[in-house]
Amino acid sequence: MKILLLGAGGREHAFAWKLSQSPLCEKLFIAPGNAGTSKHGENVAIGVNDFDAIEKFVLENKIELVVVGPEDPLVNGIYDYFQAKDELKNLPVIGPSKAGAQLEGSKAFAKQFMVRHGIPTAAYGEFTIENLEDGFDFIDEQTPPIVLKADGLAAGKGVLIISEHGEAKDNLREMIEQNKFGKASAKVVIEEFLKGIEFSVFVLTDGVNYKILPNAKDYKRIGEGDTGLNTGGMGCISPVPFVDDVLMKKVEERVIIPTIQGLKKDNIVYKGFIYIGFMNVNGEPYVIEYNCRMGDPETEIVLPRIKNDLVELLVAVGGGSLQEMQIEIDERACATVIVASGGYPEDYEKGKEISGLNDVGDSIVFHAGTKAEGDKILSNGGRVLAVSSYGKDIHEAVAKSNAAIEKINFEGKYYRKDIGYEFR
Ligand code: AMP
Ligand code: GLY
Repeated sequence: MKILLLGAGGREHAFAWKLSQSPLCEKLFIAPGNAGTSKHGENVAIGVNDFDAIEKFVLENKIELVVVGPEDPLVNGIYDYFQAKDELKNLPVIGPSKAGAQLEGSKAFAKQFMVRHGIPTAAYGEFTIENLEDGFDFIDEQTPPIVLKADGLAAGKGVLIISEHGEAKDNLREMIEQNKFGKASAKVVIEEFLKGIEFSVFVLTDGVNYKILPNAKDYKRIGEGDTGLNTGGMGCISPVPFVDDVLMKKVEERVIIPTIQGLKKDNIVYKGFIYIGFMNVNGEPYVIEYNCRMGDPETEIVLPRIKNDLVELLVAVGGGSLQEMQIEIDERACATVIVASGGYPEDYEKGKEISGLNDVGDSIVFHAGTKAEGDKILSNGGRVLAVSSYGKDIHEAVAKSNAAIEKINFEGKYYRKDIGYEFR
């Protein structure tokens, strides 16, 4: 089977690594990919949002499965684009329709969906220029901290948590009137603050059936002890020690089943991954967010913990026969630690030569932001590598990743040594 994978990060390197292990994978292409993905397939220089070029490539190369890594092409409607073409509508595209991708593409849409289907989430209001004054009143009614969310995609930066009413109102005005997050903040969701500890659950669905994948907890702040600026994620662990069978039963009954049924009731086509971010509030799971794709760096630990043939699973998703599959999970813990460019998530330099990539023992190095130049590998992003390791527990897995990272070098290398600190 000829497969096209879209994306260029650590998530896509992990997908390429896993897809290429399948005996069903005859040829893998990655558009545009990075220096890591090219070890498992052929990179092609096409952007993930260039649907015309993707269509041409798919037809010319007789692609039989398309796997979409990032949210952008999904929110832009790549699924519907393929559906609208006679010669492509039977080609399985793993990822939701444009309507399904709204679960991530619009926070207000996601909140309305949860309310409509009785899924536990923080109380909220939604505001635009039309009802800005109501937004100020709504802020006055909240007990700080106050959570303001840009409705649209804002590259992970659109959520503000503010400790004081006046400052929250100033920010609401800047978001709505002054485009603080561009078009994304023309509408703002204001939410009740939930106090608890976060975890993430990943679901694979063919629109009717679903499979629950290994859970994870990520570490979003740049600094040790969860301090400093937010990032795309500096590392993560799986399984999450406090997510026991009792909590997972609540997650499945109160959230996963109503989500899958809700999509069906709303006639929303969804064949792909759903990433559900939760807050555990005294043992009760509340949904913080949906994403319409796998997480990055969560994929770099979730896929290593899945023993199944991923191509077989995704073919079942496309064909609507996921109920025939049994997910087999590796009992070992897995952790990934991100190696970033000094300065990230603010300004950083690229193009630094990376050494020691082959001195990492049995850890797996996924490339997040790299490029090849001759036989050199150069840094090419803020998050450069994700180093994943198995262990008998979180402690062992993180210690192995940290030891592997000590062997890897490039100018300005930075990583958090304390991933999983609460559980070690
Ligand atoms: P989101 O982009 O919706 O995942 O929000 C980013 C981060 O803001 C989350 O990972 C949480 O840490 C935090 N957050 C979002 N919503 C809430 C909430 N209602 N209560 C407390 N923290 C929140
Ligand atoms: N690691 C967070 C995300 O992928 O959204």
